[in-house]
Amino acid sequence: MPENTMEKHNIVTCTAPVNIAVIKYWGKRNEELILPINSSLSVTLHQDQLKTTTTVATSRSFQEDQIWLNGKEEDITHPRLQSCLREIRRLARKRRNDGDSPLDPSILSQKVHICSVNNFPTAAGLASSAAGFACLVYTLARVFGIEGELSGIARQGSGSACRSMYGGFVQWIMGQKDDGKDSLAQQVEPETHWPDLRILVLVASAEKKSVGSTSGMQTSVQTSCLLMHRAESVVPGRMEEMIEAVRGKNFAAFADLTMKDSNQFHATCLDTYPPIFYLNSVSQQVINLVHRFNRHYGETRLAYTFDAGPNAVIYTLQQHVPEFVQAVQHFFPPERNGGQFIQGLPVNQAALSEELKQAIALEPMPKGISYIISTKAGPGPRVVEDPTQHLIGSDGMPK
Ligand code: DP6
Repeated sequence: MPENTMEKHNIVTCTAPVNIAVIKYWGKRNEELILPINSSLSVTLHQDQLKTTTTVATSRSFQEDQIWLNGKEEDITHPRLQSCLREIRRLARKRRNDGDSPLDPSILSQKVHICSVNNFPTAAGLASSAAGFACLVYTLARVFGIEGELSGIARQGSGSACRSMYGGFVQWIMGQKDDGKDSLAQQVEPETHWPDLRILVLVASAEKKSVGSTSGMQTSVQTSCLLMHRAESVVPGRMEEMIEAVRGKNFAAFADLTMKDSNQFHATCLDTYPPIFYLNSVSQQVINLVHRFNRHYGETRLAYTFDAGPNAVIYTLQQHVPEFVQAVQHFFPPERNGGQFIQGLPVNQAALSEELKQAIALEPMPKGISYIISTKAGPGPRVVEDPTQHLIGSDGMPK
């Protein structure tokens, strides 16, 4: 094989997106395989604003598998990392044995170096594990010449990561089998489906580290009977309604369900014993602002949703973004010289009417929100073709 082709097969860089659920995943029926107690549905965010980039290199000269995250070496023996590596190598071996692998078979005996970075601050409190594991699995699959369904492997890194394997609107079908073979993500509609849908991440300041989702949902499964009721009797119907709302681009239906589902998830957290609190006073103020904004207009123009932290993610339509951003700036006056308050997709200027201000009537919380990331639905993982973008140098180490 010519030298440059070898090179090409031995180093690959890919990017993968973050996703934000509108029907939440919370609770596992199998911890090791990461099988959920209910299906969930999310929107994949655009990688221009939020993405993970991962480079995987293999070489005969590497002594061991190694991983660096955001510049720091991490423990490769982490069980979830090991699950992903093992599954990918198992599929690669199977392909080789079936005689349909395009790769140099010696790659299977080589160690990997993995280097991964996020283009957004960890402080943004976004589920970086979803983009991270999706990117890891996608990149490893390219290196080891594996095609086809990969969400079942990404799921074993982090449950929500399976949904980041596709762009647009994605459902994670919980599945019924004990081996998890039917617990997979599936695209409901592509990212082009709903062009005026916008997503705003409101990054709450002064964030304290709260209970992680893995251990939080474990305690919820053990102690919350509301969670069981939700999984068995509420989510199945909501999944159907949500898919219909997405397909029909029915914003009011989409938004009302999104808010109700976020609220029910946080209610199951309060029903967990001892209770878990992810929402803080800023989150509650955002919830009030959204409902009063909607009530003022007599229609649902905004939806909030919260994951395992206090940052609100707002879904709205493009035409409502400028006024909403003005309202946020008015009720959460930002720090002067605190950098750009609005990041990402540009937002037009708008005036905030006295009527709307009076209808919202909240006590302003200065600096409650440090900044907003403005984005939209985007595509799934991608290969980066430009070799200058590799995160690993010719010496096999992070650049
Ligand atoms: C609240 O996928 O982070 O964001 O499977 O244990 O890695 P593990 O949990 P994770 O949980 C995400 C929970 C959530 C809701 C969601 O994204 O659906």
